[in-house]
Amino acid sequence: MINNHPIGLFDSGVGGTSIWREIHRLLPNEDCIYLADSKNAPYGQKSKDEIIYLSAKNTEFLLNRNCKLIVVACNTATTNAIKELRERYKVPFIGIEPAIKPAATHSQTQTIGILATQGTLNSELFHKNVERFTQTKIIEQIGHGLVPLIERGEINSTEMSELLNTYLQPMIAQNIDYLVLGCSHYPYLIPQIQKILPKHIQIIDSGEAVARQTRNILKEKVGFRNLEQSSLQIFYTNSNPNVLSDILNNEYEVQKIDF
Ligand code: DGL
Repeated sequence: MINNHPIGLFDSGVGGTSIWREIHRLLPNEDCIYLADSKNAPYGQKSKDEIIYLSAKNTEFLLNRNCKLIVVACNTATTNAIKELRERYKVPFIGIEPAIKPAATHSQTQTIGILATQGTLNSELFHKNVERFTQTKIIEQIGHGLVPLIERGEINSTEMSELLNTYLQPMIAQNIDYLVLGCSHYPYLIPQIQKILPKHIQIIDSGEAVARQTRNILKEKVGFRNLEQSSLQIFYTNSNPNVLSDILNNEYEVQKIDF
């Protein structure tokens, strides 16, 4: 099946580019449009209604640019709004949820940690997901303050190390052997997290799984791009474009929009 329209992705900010990276790696021939709603970040402490409102606004921005499929590259938006988005719009949606299943299935200590936003950890969808793994002790930790620091470009700051240390030490003390990153911003913290965690603790995020799922849906329902010329990767932000540029290693042009 052929469909030359772009894939649309949105996040509350720059973090969803961790998902875009995986999608672009697996599907380099696909055009992508990425929208960072950084002006409204973080979503993590917003009400469900606000998250639904912003997610619908982001979706319409991408649909107005003819996207053939929408990747909700944000755990908080997925767990709070994907059901409403699917009811409201005809386009297929791919969401991202914390990778509890692989961690719980492989854990030897039967204890895993999850770091995510308040909005994700309090959501009904997350609770339903966790209830399936009664054998595993799941230590939940809200990553207060992490997304705002990433949105300010302060990934390698002392404040970041101190926050991560505070959140991770209690998990280490309780003998986790897997740490699930339940927020698309957090893969950018992996080098910092690795400095704190003992080597035997594995870190998992959902980026690769989302990319595989995107490929499956394109194959089964939507269609792949079949043009010869190289694909276009377009990035929009409604806040400071330098932060998004930096996170993309200044390899792509970022367009600042009023949105
Ligand atoms: N990247 C978003 C997520 O995956 C961050 C949420 C926020 O803005 O608080 O949940």
